[in-house]
Amino acid sequence: MTSNGHRRTASPLTTAATVVRLLRSPQIRLLLSLSGKLVTPVYRAAFLTGAASSGVLRRLAEGPADVHALAASLGVQDDTRRLARWLDAGVTLGQLQRRNGTYTLRSRLAKQLARIENDAAAGALEEVVRFHQPVLIDAPRMVREGRSFGLGDQDGSVIARSSLVVQPFIEEAVSRVLDRERPVRLLEIGCGSGVYVRHAAALNPRLTAHAIDLQPEVAEEAARNMDRWGLTERVTTRQGDLRTLAFDERYDLVTLHNNIYYFPEADRVEILARAREALAPGGRLLLTTSCQGGGPSLEVLGLWFEFADFGGPLPVEDELVQQLVKAGFTDVEAHRIVPGEQFRAFVGTNA
Ligand SMILES: C[S@@+](CC[C@H](N)C(=O)[O-])C[C@H]1O[C@@H](n2cnc3c(N)ncnc32)[C@H](O)[C@@H]1O
Repeated sequence: MTSNGHRRTASPLTTAATVVRLLRSPQIRLLLSLSGKLVTPVYRAAFLTGAASSGVLRRLAEGPADVHALAASLGVQDDTRRLARWLDAGVTLGQLQRRNGTYTLRSRLAKQLARIENDAAAGALEEVVRFHQPVLIDAPRMVREGRSFGLGDQDGSVIARSSLVVQPFIEEAVSRVLDRERPVRLLEIGCGSGVYVRHAAALNPRLTAHAIDLQPEVAEEAARNMDRWGLTERVTTRQGDLRTLAFDERYDLVTLHNNIYYFPEADRVEILARAREALAPGGRLLLTTSCQGGGPSLEVLGLWFEFADFGGPLPVEDELVQQLVKAGFTDVEAHRIVPGEQFRAFVGTNA
């Protein structure tokens, strides 16, 4: 008898012959293969997403912590038991280590995702786990039921962070298009975090800008950033929709980064013509976007927008050039700006 009062027996209930037979069963072999190749990586991705977005990774990057210290940093009041169970799942998944009740980061990915400079990668992982997985899982049912995603099915702040994976390339495109010799009035549509307005403002000290974003919480975050960056004198930041925006002035540069696919394909000429209306004569549009024909994550990004009731597929490079021409732009050019990726900068002039 053990101290718990139950009898422990030496002879196993399952014989060696049964184990061998089970291991030969095609279904058991499939399950073992699924577990190693698919299930565990999916669990790891989900755990790392939760650990990054809750701040647990960053807290552990500062030093070892027990469940009480982690609970305090997460604002958890009483329920440390369930928090510990979740942390222990992270240990089982090889992402955390636990010694004498204290947790540390274990895997290389966990350590990298904990770093503030890798926040865009953490955001991209969260976008994949929270938004790309559902479209892959639910697409057949959504088609059958005639359902679509709405803007509310996306978390604007996660998207604003994950969009920054291409930040160095978009900044390079802004640097090439921006006039630095004269004062410039910039209109940024769908500004996200606002980093590209900040970049343009740093390149041209006489630049003033109006930054808008459709999603109120995104516009609020951008406004807070402008304040933090000391730019409120030069930049106004508002919630706004390109489709209905009244233009109080005309701009020298209009920018749209990573958002042309928020508009249905059939509306794009009209949308681009609206962006042109905002330009002063001779003003330029800079539009950066992922295009069709990229790897799996771009494919699934495009799929999500095809299943959204407001958006459309990623553009095809040549078609977008044609749409810009139809919208009245001249000197339209498309530039490859991310090596090896279907990511392009389109430039057009309001003649
Ligand atoms: C993928 S995010 C990109 C954010 C930012 N431009 C960047 O590249 O980091 C696209 C943004 O466009 C905004 N947006 C979509 N449709 C819009 C519209 N009609 N008017 C203004 N903003 C819009 C969304 O709210 C979202 O924040």
